Amino acid sequence: MIFPSIPLLAASGLVLGVSQAAVIRKEGRTCRKTQVAVLGAGVAGITAAQSLHNASITDFLIVDRNDYIGGRMRNTKFGKAPNGKPYTVELGANWVEGLESESGNVNPIWRLAKKHKIKSKYSDGDSLLTYDETGYYNFTDLVDEFDAAWEIAMKDADSIKDDNLQDTSVRAGLSLAGWKPKKDMHAQAAEWWGWDFEMAILPEQSGFLYDMYVNKAVFEHFSDSTELVIDQRGFNALIIGEANEFLKKNDPRLLLNSPVTAIKYGSSGVTVHLEDGDCIEAEYAICTFSVGVLQNEVVKFEPTLPRWKREAIEQFQMGTYTKIFMQFNETWWPRDTQYMLYADPTERGYYPMFQSLSATGFVPESNILFGTVTGTQAYQVEKQTNEETQTEIMEVLRSMFPNITVPEPTSILYPRWSQDKSTFGSFSNWPPGMTLEKHQNLRANVHRLWFAGEANSAEFFGYLQGAWFEGKEMGDRIGKILNSDGALADGEGELTRYDVLHGDTFKDEYDDANGWTIDLDD
Ligand SMILES: Cc1cc2nc3c(=O)[nH]c(=O)nc-3n(C[C@H](O)[C@H](O)[C@H](O)COP(=O)(O)OP(=O)(O)OC[C@H]3O[C@@H](n4cnc5c(N)ncnc54)[C@H](O)[C@@H]3O)c2cc1C
Ligand SMILES: *[C@@H]1O[C@H](CO)[C@@H](O)[C@H](O)[C@H]1NC(C)=O
Ligand SMILES: *[C@@H]1O[C@H](CO)[C@@H](O)[C@H](O)[C@H]1NC(C)=O
Ligand SMILES: *[C@@H]1O[C@H](CO)[C@@H](O)[C@H](O)[C@H]1NC(C)=O
Ligand SMILES: *[C@@H]1O[C@H](CO)[C@@H](O)[C@H](O)[C@H]1NC(C)=O
Repeated sequence: MIFPSIPLLAASGLVLGVSQAAVIRKEGRTCRKTQVAVLGAGVAGITAAQSLHNASITDFLIVDRNDYIGGRMRNTKFGKAPNGKPYTVELGANWVEGLESESGNVNPIWRLAKKHKIKSKYSDGDSLLTYDETGYYNFTDLVDEFDAAWEIAMKDADSIKDDNLQDTSVRAGLSLAGWKPKKDMHAQAAEWWGWDFEMAILPEQSGFLYDMYVNKAVFEHFSDSTELVIDQRGFNALIIGEANEFLKKNDPRLLLNSPVTAIKYGSSGVTVHLEDGDCIEAEYAICTFSVGVLQNEVVKFEPTLPRWKREAIEQFQMGTYTKIFMQFNETWWPRDTQYMLYADPTERGYYPMFQSLSATGFVPESNILFGTVTGTQAYQVEKQTNEETQTEIMEVLRSMFPNITVPEPTSILYPRWSQDKSTFGSFSNWPPGMTLEKHQNLRANVHRLWFAGEANSAEFFGYLQGAWFEGKEMGDRIGKILNSDGALADGEGELTRYDVLHGDTFKDEYDDANGWTIDLDD
């Protein structure tokens, strides 16, 4: 059970516009034939299918274990508005991150948000108040200090890239740039705000080069603005809207509520087995499951994926980012502030962030405040009950606001991403020691089984646009292969992969240069 207090079906009732009938399954086992099996109906899957459609390939099936389109674009109903109806809150993706540059680079997610008239509001990181266990305590100077070190680190990462030097961790990169928070809990909180809040993983677990690069790609290539989506149809209305353009009403090509249990692949095709015993025989398949799903072996690959593929899957990481929604009987916190950052005296990352949905210009009458935890604290919170979490949060809020009689929330709700079979985590992150070649192996096809999804984008991993670009790329490629009637040149229909990865200095060279006397081969 993912949301203890809200049945999933009710939560997604309004997003099923495309296909109610596809949910109804026939008696008996069937094996359907298709040209392309698109595994996953998230942003990558729907975009891949749209690319196929654009290439005049209409014989495809889209399969998902969820009962809605959108994957990690997921919303639910929560609380109560003055008119008695519940609000829609975003359990997964919430922001359009990076909009459009003056030179005309447009984030495809921003383009779709505008096309489908998704209601959003400029998210202002400067609208920030800082707190500790004694109440309001201004430590924005540390936030500024972190930002200054960030600028230095960004230049440093650039020169590593330009000179093709060896990568390091973000922790080391920040330290080299002069940022050393040590045991100062205010500095730790400033760092959480500057790093973990965006990446959902610790600086020591983050690869310097590509994690700085993804930030550059998102916030420099497009723009350094983000928009928080507050659309009551849900953020995924944009991807449902896209799906509606190429899927008919009740389109039999959309199979929701259909968990994939096994994928048999080879050089002549792919057979996909579903939980109910049915199967799909496809010429090609595009698997868009998250790195978390691939790591947790909920899907059996036959034959076992090759070592080069498995190593890339096991090494890439899923962060966990958990939003805890609370509705109160009134907005007792500052009205004009978007973000409230809390520095706990003993534990970095302990309920560090509270975001106001009631802030001016957002949903002022909602009286909704949501907390965010990441990493270790997210795992902990996802393991415990809503009641336990509420007790902990109330203690924090009451220490942040000693002069206010903070009432108990009237509702509380949060997802359990780390335990959710459809994701096992929230979004991916590039770890130290992952090279571009190894990342390409995460992406590369294995015979006729192809992969897409946010993690496979070296530029935009972790973001909606990463899922969109990868879905489009793989859909385009398969469309091209299918339309070529076998006329593609050798290797043209394959992605580059690296069976053997090099990177470290060979011991022999080390011996020669340093006179090491122990021969480990003996
Ligand atoms: C809490 C949270 C906050 C986020 N915030 C933002 C944000 O603000 N901005 C942003 O740009 N990005 C954000 N992201 C990331 C963004 O949501 C993802 O990058 C993107 O949605 C991934 O799309 P995808 O198609 O690659 O994967 P998914 O959306 O995961 O799609 C894969 C689909 O495969 C299905 N599937 C998995 N296993 C099986 C199986 N065995 N059988 C059948 N189907 C299966 C899943 O149900 C899912 O629908 C956030 C994510 C989370 C979770
Ligand atoms: C498919 O074509 C439409 C119409 O030209 C376009 O808007 C859309 O972006 C295309 N989709 C993909 C994934 O390329
Ligand atoms: C709380 O009220 C006291 C007394 O009015 C005041 O001195 C103190 O600054 C207030 N604290 C906060 C955090 O507002
Ligand atoms: C916090 O302190 C900084 C200086 O360090 C100052 O510029 C800023 O205005 C202060 N913020 C508030 C809300 O008082
Ligand atoms: C909200 O609840 C608190 C505590 O029960 C109460 O003191 C306060 O008056 C209530 N506010 C409103 C607007 O009803």
